[in-house]
Amino acid sequence: MGRYALSVTDQAAARADAEARLGSAIDARACRVAVMGLGYVGLPLLAAVASAGFPAIGVDSDPAKIERLRRGETYLPHLGERLARGLAENPRVTLSADRAALGPADAVLICVPTPLDARREPDLSAVEGAARDVAARRDPARPLLVCLESTTYPGTTRDVVAPLLDAAADPRLFLAFSPEREDPGNRRFTTRSIPKLVGGLDRAGGDLAERLYAAVVERVVRCPSAEVAEAAKCVENVYRSVNIALVNELKIALAAMGLDVWEVLEAAATKPFGFQRFDPGPGFGGHCVPIDPFYLSWRAERAGVRTRFIELAGEVNHAMPGYVVGVCERALASRGKRTRGARVLVLGLAYKRDIADVRESPSFELIALLRSLGAEVSYHDPHVPRTHAGRRHDLRMQSVAWSAEELSRHDLVLIATDHSWYDWDAVARHAGLIVDTRNAMRGREAVCGDRLWKA
Ligand SMILES: NC(=O)c1ccc[n+]([C@@H]2O[C@H](COP(=O)([O-])OP(=O)(O)OC[C@H]3O[C@@H](n4cnc5c(N)ncnc54)[C@H](O)[C@@H]3O)[C@@H](O)[C@H]2O)c1
Repeated sequence: MGRYALSVTDQAAARADAEARLGSAIDARACRVAVMGLGYVGLPLLAAVASAGFPAIGVDSDPAKIERLRRGETYLPHLGERLARGLAENPRVTLSADRAALGPADAVLICVPTPLDARREPDLSAVEGAARDVAARRDPARPLLVCLESTTYPGTTRDVVAPLLDAAADPRLFLAFSPEREDPGNRRFTTRSIPKLVGGLDRAGGDLAERLYAAVVERVVRCPSAEVAEAAKCVENVYRSVNIALVNELKIALAAMGLDVWEVLEAAATKPFGFQRFDPGPGFGGHCVPIDPFYLSWRAERAGVRTRFIELAGEVNHAMPGYVVGVCERALASRGKRTRGARVLVLGLAYKRDIADVRESPSFELIALLRSLGAEVSYHDPHVPRTHAGRRHDLRMQSVAWSAEELSRHDLVLIATDHSWYDWDAVARHAGLIVDTRNAMRGREAVCGDRLWKA
């Protein structure tokens, strides 16, 4: 029977019946859960879904990723080979690059990218593509829960995803939004232990999503609507962006007064209430903090409001690589050296400690700026052996070897990422000049003397 043929009463009955069937399937772990987009967010989520006992379907549009996963290999080193092997060896897990694999799914969790376009406006093409893929495989006779996890502005699930799925005319379709709060490399919190926000498009969508996630993660927090959950995720990243910008600006102001921002933060952070410490750095990176706030500001502008904090934080953070390169120039000049022709070694290409993720990493901006001034730049990163073409940069570089000779051969060593892999004592012993953007050399100030510049 076509879904449009139902009367309003029949629609309500069909919806109640579909909700009951899907709810029972979730409770019995018989619900087949598909995860679309197996990246930083989707891959650990797929593993969590599978280990909760659900038959799981992992779909990614990149066939190379699926091939590697099927061989039990990972392309995200911080997750470890065990996770990939576990997925490959689990007979209840299907891995596919073909959207046809979505056919049998009873629930679909969408974890595709949400970048900004060339005008720095939301680019929802991957979300729209995923929603169309689900719609193309939709069997209206069967209940289906679709939950969007990609970070986006409030209103996306209702105004963008629901129409593509023809949700209003489909009584057996349930929709919700549940933002991912993954923090790659964080050893204290995992996909399972981070509380999960859930907001439904209606009561039934929210209830079913809550029931499913409660079987996968330790704690589910129900939001009054999908929009509240969407906005909450944006607010979390705006909060980080604004506070990072604040300490970055304070770093510059305090340095001008002859004060070390890290010493000041150390002191301020002893206050047991009303203060949360953020640390300055060479800028900001990753797929979230530099991007998500602009999803909210874009939406606010459409509501007639200018979000000045968001814009200002973006400006301050984006200006940081320029400030750091200025300190490098001053440090070199203190040794009678010009930046043109100076050999600079950048330590750390990833945007943060102990991961291989280079998306939006300020290290790329640092290298590009130093090169534009004529410096000869190399980099070392234990997690990033070579660069690949990115959204804005294609540096075509390879990590140099880690050795005392490399450290001493360069005129300046610029610490951009404080991977715990690094031997900071070796840096203190062998580098002629050090610019430290992470306070990685703390405790070694006396050994380094005037070779150490903080930026
Ligand atoms: N990386 C993080 O730390 C993090 C944290 C919280 C939230 N998020 C949000 O989660 C979302 C995903 O981010 P990510 O870091 O996992 O991205 P990612 O680029 O690592 O992974 C996304 C994957 O989706 C695949 N894909 C794209 N379109 C597809 C389609 N139509 N069907 C199937 N697969 C498709 C891509 O090939 C890629 O493998 C984004 O909205 C991001 O803002 C990311």
